[in-house]
Amino acid sequence: MPSGAACGKQSTVSFLIVGFAAFSASSSGVFAADQPVSFNNQVQPILSEYCYHCHGPDSAARKPKKHPLRLDKEQFAFEARDDGKPVIIKGDPKTSELVRRITAKDDDIMPPASEHKTIKPEEIALFYERDEA
Ligand code: HEC
Repeated sequence: MPSGAACGKQSTVSFLIVGFAAFSASSSGVFAADQPVSFNNQVQPILSEYCYHCHGPDSAARKPKKHPLRLDKEQFAFEARDDGKPVIIKGDPKTSELVRRITAKDDDIMPPASEHKTIKPEEIALFYERDEA
C-alpha cells in the first residue's frame, strides 16, 4: 500500500487519539508522540471489549437504532452524526462526544451502566492527546 500520500499535512497538529491518527496514516512515526499509540494494538482492543457489542460490525445489534454508530472502522468513527459532528474530533478531546461519553457521570455513560463494565482510567487516558508540542 502506498503510504504518505495524504497524511503529512497535519503532522504538527496534536490528535485526539494518536492511535486513530496512526491508524489513518497507515504507518507509524508520522506523528510527534514519543511512543505512538497503535490503533490496532492498543485502541481497538479497548473499543472491541467495551463498545463493539453495540457499535461494532454486527449491524443487527448496532445502536442507536435511529442512527447506528459504528466504531470498528475509522471511516465510520469519523462520520458526522446528527449534530453534524463526528464523535471523535481530532485534536479536541474535550468537545468529542466519545470522550464525553466514556467519562460521563450520568446516564450518558458508555458503555451503559447495564453492561456492568467500566473503562479503566489508563484506558481512557489513551483517548487523550499525549503531547501538545
Ligand atoms: C449495551 C450497548 C452499548 C454499548 C456496549 C456501548 N454503547 Fe454507546 N450507545 C448505546 C445506545 C443505546 C446509544 C444511544 C442512546 C444514547 O445516546 O445514550 C449509544 C450512544 C453512543 C454515543 C452517542 C452517539 C450519538 O450520535 O450521539 C456514543 C459516542 C457512544 N455510544 C459511544 C460508545 C463507546 C465509546 C462505547 C464503548 C466504550 C459504547 N458506546 C458502548 C449503546 C451502547
